[in-house]
Amino acid sequence: MSRLMNGTAKCCLLLAALWLAGTAQAQVVYSVASDATARSPDGRLAVTVRVTGEGRPEYSILRGGRAVIDWSRLGFILAEAPKLERNFEVARIEEKKVDETWEQPWGERRFVRNHYTEQRVSLREKAGERRTLVVVFRVFDDGVGFRYEFPEQPRESQIGIVEELTEFAIAEPATAWWIPAGEWNRYEYLYSKTPLAEVSQAHTPFTLKTASGLHIAIHEAALVDYAGLWLRRVTGQRLKAELSPSSSGPKVSRKAPFSTPWRTLQIADSAPGIYMSDLILNLNEPNKLGDVSWVKPFKYVGVWWAMHLGTRTWGSGPTHGATTAETRRYIDFAAANGFRGVLVEGWNKGWDGDWFADGKDFRFTEAYPDFDIVSLAAYAKKKGVHLVGHHETAGNIAVYEKQLGPALDLYAKLGIDAVKTGYVADAGGVQARGEDGRIHFEWHDGQVQARHHLRVVEEAAKRHIAVNAHEPIKDTGLRRTYPNWVSREGARGMEYNAWGDPKNPPEHEVNLVFTRMLSGPMDYTPGVLSLTGAGGSRIPSTEARQLALYVVLYSPIQMAADLPENYAKYPKAFQFIKDVPVDWSDTRVLNGEVGDYATIARKDRRSDDWYLGAITDETPRVLSASLSFLDEGKKYSATIYRDGKGAGFEANGHAIEVETRPVSRHDTLRLELAPGGGQAIRISARKPATKKQKAKPQPEFDVE
Ligand code: NOJ
Ligand code: CA
Repeated sequence: MSRLMNGTAKCCLLLAALWLAGTAQAQVVYSVASDATARSPDGRLAVTVRVTGEGRPEYSILRGGRAVIDWSRLGFILAEAPKLERNFEVARIEEKKVDETWEQPWGERRFVRNHYTEQRVSLREKAGERRTLVVVFRVFDDGVGFRYEFPEQPRESQIGIVEELTEFAIAEPATAWWIPAGEWNRYEYLYSKTPLAEVSQAHTPFTLKTASGLHIAIHEAALVDYAGLWLRRVTGQRLKAELSPSSSGPKVSRKAPFSTPWRTLQIADSAPGIYMSDLILNLNEPNKLGDVSWVKPFKYVGVWWAMHLGTRTWGSGPTHGATTAETRRYIDFAAANGFRGVLVEGWNKGWDGDWFADGKDFRFTEAYPDFDIVSLAAYAKKKGVHLVGHHETAGNIAVYEKQLGPALDLYAKLGIDAVKTGYVADAGGVQARGEDGRIHFEWHDGQVQARHHLRVVEEAAKRHIAVNAHEPIKDTGLRRTYPNWVSREGARGMEYNAWGDPKNPPEHEVNLVFTRMLSGPMDYTPGVLSLTGAGGSRIPSTEARQLALYVVLYSPIQMAADLPENYAKYPKAFQFIKDVPVDWSDTRVLNGEVGDYATIARKDRRSDDWYLGAITDETPRVLSASLSFLDEGKKYSATIYRDGKGAGFEANGHAIEVETRPVSRHDTLRLELAPGGGQAIRISARKPATKKQKAKPQPEFDVE
């Protein structure tokens, strides 16, 4: 900041600092300045705020002196005039530095460092009511977050936000990976890779690689009681915030004081760099639920894939999936193979007919007669397994909210401690009851749905139930505040490999790593070892790749999505699915390029074992993975599941080799990936051999 300050300001700063030296406050209070820069702890990123001649606030971002974001607008158009976008002056700038480390109850890593410089810029109208608007910037080494605070207003506390004017003017030409926003299929699109200057309107996370190789991901953190952020390209490389619409006119209606979600820019030299950033979690509030030891990461199987294959139905009838007998079969399978959860879809009344038309018939406490929920819950318990609940709403949250309490009570009573929710409806087709008592159509990522999801998560938390939402609102790191919000969909998942046209091409899963996955866990539901979708169609993958997805696409709950009878056919690969953990103490992205390939290593939270997953797009590749993350002096045994000879997403997907060999931190592995293939490795820390059981030589090569 000092670079831009005049002598008077510096003098005031000194006085303020002297005054603060005598207090216990950590905050350094600056005097009024009209132009201010805050720097990241390492000094590389610099955010500057200024007010133009017309009194319009703007910000820019430099990295190492080079422009990343050119001057970009800040402000709002409000339903109430004047609009809160010009006639401002800077009233006050405050800065503080924070460096703390916090612990996640579950996650990609156990400890997270939160290290940033915060700058609060208070803007005041020069005339009229002299209202204030505060913009808070947090500048990290790996990016920037900023949000607006609407303080107590002099007169009217009701605020209607018609438009948020925030811009992101990307300084350099760039390539973008994006999915369209405001389209009927919510977030379930294949990614486009285009020059930034060809983007129309996109969802976030929105990932960019600039001409000089810089990686930028734009997203948001802590989306609470506000509309989701879309990005609309205005001109050239200038993107503007476009808030998800609302049926009530203004896109956001709030009472001041309140804060908006954080607008985030993760900025790094490489794709692995943006993935490794914890900025979004750091910008969320700490855990509000207290002791969350009841939130259990787990793997699950389910009465699910058969419905997507079309061999079973959600609705009642001769091929009903959720029967007592079929569910017992899954419980037995889960118990025999160490899976904690058994998801059952289609157990409750309401699925018959065109269930996704309006959701009005769903009964969340009434089981179909051929599904004995009470005895099944007891049977599961006896076997050490837990049923996973399912609430498909077809987007009718009016019907769901009415039944929410009793629906969750029923699960709590039966010991069902996780629920998958679902909102299958076209975008803009969520049916909510408004304050006027009428049904209103809302967006999946509008303010009403942002509120709805948190209401479900909070009600579930009261009953110690975890939530996994499908057709959700996007993740913005709220798992930090509500650790029972364990996962969600919010992208094209495995189900598209059953019936999708097209199916998910190999590139899609690689795209997910550096786009969708930046926002948080995804319930992708991997592990379809049969590589077979509806009607015997071929899934464009290899067996080894299905295994790698458990490591590459993070979620604290992971499904083994295939049918039990299919797992019986592929026992060697299935072993990895049984072994792989879902909760990690550390995560390293060893290599990766957006849309091309990614290799991720993660350390088991409950042992010294590491797991590694690598996937590629349609191109075969040889990647190298240094194991330098392993402990010095420790011996490890690696079980490698790799694409076999002739493997490929169009060729023989079942060609897989399994090899076990000793490794240490001094090894660098050569990962050969077939077209659309992958590799999965379990690296177990070897127990030192006792005198009695002398170390037997490990079998060096075991090919399936
Ligand atoms: C869509 C979900 O993504 C899928 O997993 C679920 O089976 C169906 N809706 C039915 O709820
Ligand atoms: Ca879906």
